[in-house]
Amino acid sequence: MKKIIVENLKYKYPLSEKLALNNVSFEIEQGEFIGVIGRNLSGKSTLCQAMVGLVPHFYKGAYGGKVIIDGLEVRNYSIADISLKVGIVFQNPFTQITGSKMTVYEEIAFGLENLGISRAEMINRIDFALNLLKIAPFKERSPFDLSGGQMQRMAIASIIAMKPEIIVLDEPTSQLDPEGSEEVFRAIQDLSKQGITVILAEHKMEKMAEFCNRILLLDDGKVVDFDVPEKVFSRDDLGEHGVNAPVYTRVCKALNKKKAGTNDYPVTLEEAVRVLGGMGL
Ligand SMILES: Nc1ncnc2c1ncn2[C@@H]1O[C@H](COP(=O)(O)OP(=O)(O)O)[C@@H](O)[C@H]1O
Ligand SMILES: [Mg+2]
Repeated sequence: MKKIIVENLKYKYPLSEKLALNNVSFEIEQGEFIGVIGRNLSGKSTLCQAMVGLVPHFYKGAYGGKVIIDGLEVRNYSIADISLKVGIVFQNPFTQITGSKMTVYEEIAFGLENLGISRAEMINRIDFALNLLKIAPFKERSPFDLSGGQMQRMAIASIIAMKPEIIVLDEPTSQLDPEGSEEVFRAIQDLSKQGITVILAEHKMEKMAEFCNRILLLDDGKVVDFDVPEKVFSRDDLGEHGVNAPVYTRVCKALNKKKAGTNDYPVTLEEAVRVLGGMGL
């Protein structure tokens, strides 16, 4: 069974004249790592919010079509119900954390306290999340005594402790330096290897190309493409949709060097080196 099915999704914010999402359709398998790209205001955040029911339950507005998670139609369930299956992480970890807990451990425990689960199960889940996000060494530290990458991983760990089957992340590395971004991307990749389905909106194309299984390209609320990174980033009209291909792809394009036996350009450093290696560069 498909993990996520989106069918002809249309959405308009209250008081807005234009559709923020315009007939969006796609399907995602369990455990896929999906990247959502597109220029500013193309609809990435709105799509993320539609995955967790904030659209239309919180934002209201005009809504048509369907978002189906594990066979359940999001429109018919409360945000609280959906949050048991789908977790969401926002841009800035400061907006996500409680700000009142003394340690990383307590911060991650917080979301579990109202779920009515046993103490043993809580401890299990917290340990699982701390280890998966590689923040166990900081568990006794204050949340405010972490680097940006560590704090974002703590925010993700609090969501993971809730055991969601799907995690949606809206520009989680936009406030982070390259090292922090790399830490977060690696952590998200580990989540998807555990079978968690990942939807990630980001602008860092080199990272998206390296980590995502498939890329959903949005423009003006519509799906332009949904395919593997080398297909999406090899498009000639990418610039017209306000997106730059990864730098490796742009170099190979300029030199007209495609991947052997394909019509696609390399999208990662490794692939570019393989293709350009014989050029004596
Ligand atoms: N809270 C809001 N109220 C009204 N319009 C909004 C709101 N958030 C986003 N929009 C509009 O929805 C469209 C898509 O925006 P958004 O989903 O934020 O795009 P992105 O995340 O790709 O920048 C834009 O036209 C934007 O102006
Ligand atoms: Mg956004």
